[in-house]
Amino acid sequence: MNPLLFCLDGNLALHAGLITRARFQSGECEFRQFPDEESYVRVLSDVQGRDAVVLCSLHRPNSLFIPLCFLAQTLRELGARSVGLVAPYLAYMRQDQRFHPGEAVSARLFAALLAPHTDWLVTVDPHLHRIHDLGTLYPVPHRVVHAAPALARWISSEIALPLLIGPDSESEQWVAHVARLAKAPFVVLQKVRLGDREVSVSVPDIERWHGHTPVLIDDIISTGHTLLETAGHLRQAGLCPPVALAVHGVYAEDAQRALQAAGIRAFTTNSIPHASNAIDLSALLAQAIEALAA
Ligand code: R5P
Repeated sequence: MNPLLFCLDGNLALHAGLITRARFQSGECEFRQFPDEESYVRVLSDVQGRDAVVLCSLHRPNSLFIPLCFLAQTLRELGARSVGLVAPYLAYMRQDQRFHPGEAVSARLFAALLAPHTDWLVTVDPHLHRIHDLGTLYPVPHRVVHAAPALARWISSEIALPLLIGPDSESEQWVAHVARLAKAPFVVLQKVRLGDREVSVSVPDIERWHGHTPVLIDDIISTGHTLLETAGHLRQAGLCPPVALAVHGVYAEDAQRALQAAGIRAFTTNSIPHASNAIDLSALLAQAIEALAA
């Protein structure tokens, strides 16, 4: 029998896309919060002897983590043969070391809490920077999907003369990959993070790219400050208004409003459901899931 795919994060478009492209049946579950914010989870499908897969991006990690654990554990208690996790956005990957004395290294701690609940993991472009191998955090069979081919295709079809821009050295791995596939030039800027909501960005000799459309590439849009700062510098350098392309649109706080107010057109993949979703990952995810299952 085909595996049952449960959707916990409300990403119904991606859930439907995966069911169309991979050999899944839809799994039914109920999830809500009690008034005191405790979580209620109920599995409605018969999972006895079946393989179960949970689709859950972790962009609201603190509120999704408990229901995800409850669901995974309940599936096992009800007799599921295996429980896999498709978490297109994997949270807590950026705090990957103790930057200041006494800080929790949350990438490692979060993984230690989550990994025991899944038999395998598929994710999209996790923020691997100082930690290079996802397997050191999640010691289960896993696949990392790269959104670069999908981003490159989007750029090639939508932007006539693109100049790809990485806002900081951490973005270089993504922008270089996309630029290679889109056969487009790229530059990487220097970013200094001054606080949670404050960054400063320096721009190298960028005036020579006048006439190109700047396409900012980053893995995550969270508060949007990285893009806002970068766009401000590009404007000062006299470049056209930029387009922004990110793998994961987390959109914390009022990021979307701030980007719109600054005239930045932002587009994201559907790793996290959002109005800016323009790039569908279901084909790439389905391939990765099937390769892992095989
Ligand atoms: C950081 O290293 C990431 O690659 C992103 O640049 C960052 O998470 C974006 O965050 P924000 O939108 O809050 O500036």
